[in-house]
Amino acid sequence: MNYTRSSALFAQAEKVIPGGVNSPVRAFKGVGGTPIFVKEAKGAYLYDEDGNRLIDYINSWGPMILGHAYQPVVDAVVEKAKKGTSFGMPTEIETQIAELAVSMVPNIDKIRFVNSGTEACMSAVRLARGFTKKDKIIKFAGCYHGHSDSFLIQAGSGASTFGTPNSPGVTQGTAKDTLLAAYNDIENVKQLVEANKNEIACIIIEPVAGNMGCVPPQNDFLNKLRTLCTAENILLIFDEVMTGFRLAKGGAQELFNINADIVCFGKVIGGGLPVGAFAARNDIMNELAPLGPVYQAGTLSGNPLAMAAGLAMLTELNNDAEVFNRLAEKTEYLHKGIAKVLNDNHIVHTINRVGSMISVHFDASPVVDFATAAKGNNDTFKKFFHGLLNEGVYIAPSAFETWFITDALSYEDLDFTINAVNKVAKTL
Ligand SMILES: Cc1ncc(COP(=O)(O)O)c(C=O)c1O
Repeated sequence: MNYTRSSALFAQAEKVIPGGVNSPVRAFKGVGGTPIFVKEAKGAYLYDEDGNRLIDYINSWGPMILGHAYQPVVDAVVEKAKKGTSFGMPTEIETQIAELAVSMVPNIDKIRFVNSGTEACMSAVRLARGFTKKDKIIKFAGCYHGHSDSFLIQAGSGASTFGTPNSPGVTQGTAKDTLLAAYNDIENVKQLVEANKNEIACIIIEPVAGNMGCVPPQNDFLNKLRTLCTAENILLIFDEVMTGFRLAKGGAQELFNINADIVCFGKVIGGGLPVGAFAARNDIMNELAPLGPVYQAGTLSGNPLAMAAGLAMLTELNNDAEVFNRLAEKTEYLHKGIAKVLNDNHIVHTINRVGSMISVHFDASPVVDFATAAKGNNDTFKKFFHGLLNEGVYIAPSAFETWFITDALSYEDLDFTINAVNKVAKTL
């Protein structure tokens, strides 16, 4: 395919935007080459500035679960925009979407809307610290909770239990309060808790990890975390920015039948507009300003256009009893098809899948945490990515991302994709 115009647009963007992009993964650093500029999108397809049509398996990194330019969402936003785009005052639609979200998600009484998943996770941790009056947090290597300072932490050296900053600008002071554990390793978490007795405010986790490829929780890991947190007076935060309103109406809490103490949302909840949210039971949420002392605010929080998009999206998902089954069936079909052609072509791989999240790792061993995810052959992944792109199939430009399946995909699209994988597999 020809990408002359995208390349020219990228060169122009690089002059005025750092790296030419407003979020790093878009820059193709993980796979080489220059990013594709999107002109428009509809349903399961992206149309780029060079006139190519691509089947989209990223879907804006999750939000477009029903496809691009989904009519009820577009209509809701257009109608709202005509009546003013921001007031900084309460509007009825904020209560409407809050009521709907609270009715769909188990175990939450109140929800606060923000503008991104980053903000949701950052605020949830502050709330957990305020509620428990403790400072330290545990996160898992390979889980991403946005780019606030407390999360930009990597494993510390040697015997230290606390992390070190993995970005300049994050202070040692911040890093010392974030402890890093291995995903799916309950003994590791227990050791950290024991070594930091009565100091840990919360454990934050992606209940199905999607930022090291798709990594499902194993061996009752989430239940064990729940038991540990309850015993140690630690709040369990489910970061459902990816999984919320995707794996089930009530997200991972519903799918695995486990109650978290605080739940973070983003992506689907905003229907493609910038929305995040965090939610919990009353006694926790009532600690938030203006009711309680934990401060959190936002000029554009609860923005009417964003709320209109989110409300339209959640309404569609709430009214369609079959949507999550349909998504899981399509994903399973894709999984089986890709596995067959990779096996037929003797390509060493592991595919992980939960609901409509799926990823292909180019290594034979099970992928259960960051260390095993990092073993994947990145050269193979790069060829796989560019090969698929050339066939008109767009997956995330990084081996550490999950694919997000949209209900707009037809079985013809899935067959086209499997066929494309077959062609590419012959070149790997
Ligand atoms: C699980 C998870 N949490 C938080 C975030 C941050 O969300 P945002 O990019 O909207 O700030 C992401 C983004 O990909 C995510 O995947």
